[in-house]
Amino acid sequence: MRKVTVVGAGMVGSTVAMRIAESGLADVALIDIQGDLARGKALDISQALPLAGSSSSVEGGEDYRLAEGSEVVVVTAGFPRQPGMSRADLMGRNAEVVRKVVESAAAAAPESVIIMVTNPLDEMSYLAWRVTGWDRHRVMGMAGLLDGSRLAFLAAREVGAHPAQVQPTVLGSHGEAMLPLPRFTTVAGVPLDQLLPPRKVQELCERTREGGAEIVSLLKTGSAYYAPSACAARMVEAVLRDEEYLVTASVLLDGEYGLKGVFMGVPVVLGAGGWKRVVELPLNGEELRALEECARLIGGRMEELDGWLARS
Ligand code: APR
Repeated sequence: MRKVTVVGAGMVGSTVAMRIAESGLADVALIDIQGDLARGKALDISQALPLAGSSSSVEGGEDYRLAEGSEVVVVTAGFPRQPGMSRADLMGRNAEVVRKVVESAAAAAPESVIIMVTNPLDEMSYLAWRVTGWDRHRVMGMAGLLDGSRLAFLAAREVGAHPAQVQPTVLGSHGEAMLPLPRFTTVAGVPLDQLLPPRKVQELCERTREGGAEIVSLLKTGSAYYAPSACAARMVEAVLRDEEYLVTASVLLDGEYGLKGVFMGVPVVLGAGGWKRVVELPLNGEELRALEECARLIGGRMEELDGWLARS
């Protein structure tokens, strides 16, 4: 059986491991600094597999040798937000965690594709890429699929359509510069801005942007994990099955959309070996300017990380 490693056995990581194991797509290694937590969750997930009809094995622990032979590594280790925090507030604490985790995982699974989930997402994806020094196609962040799924849910409910009939497009950062695009979000082929009045469209975009914070404030401790884990597992599947799946992911741009050297969410074609190419949508001037503003914000924080890496 093929193998996937999930680092971080907290809420997001254990749910990703569960989804992959229950689908029977791959064996799963679940690694956490709290080895017993990972072992306990691995056992618990395993004991549901007879009912799921899956023969995947799930091994938990703190040892990165568990990751050997993995084709995909999903990184969820780190701290989640608490009410009142922005994702960017997590940068200092999570940078330490991500650097250690990615160094160890990349050494154990040097041929893998890395999918980052730890926030702040675009910045942690950049850090993972810097730490590995790998080809840019093998390191990416999961965010656009989640933000899009949030928009699809809200739009379907507003329009009265089946959620699967909504094709959402949300680019930019997984943060304050998130860019939901109503012109490129369609319901059964019809753009959202032709289905709803501008005020309603604006409201849906705003609620999408605040979708994570809304859940954080309701949960009181920790952040969302059902939808994030579904999206991470979907990306793992696209890689393992070499689907050429069109998905928005945070990737390193090299001239696409006129931007270079910055990680941010853009549509990519995802399959074996990572993302294969960026798809460039015909954005208008206003949309392009918003993307550039997003690049400026993320780029500033990437520079902070460069400084931190140089000092440490
Ligand atoms: N190595 C391995 N695991 C670690 C390390 C480390 N250095 N540091 C922390 N962890 C583990 C913790 O032990 C914990 O089990 O990461 C796990 C995080 O789990 P939760 O606190 O439940 O957080 P979760 O909700 O899963 O979110 C994790 O994903 O969506 C993002 O913003 C979210 O950055 C956060 C991450």
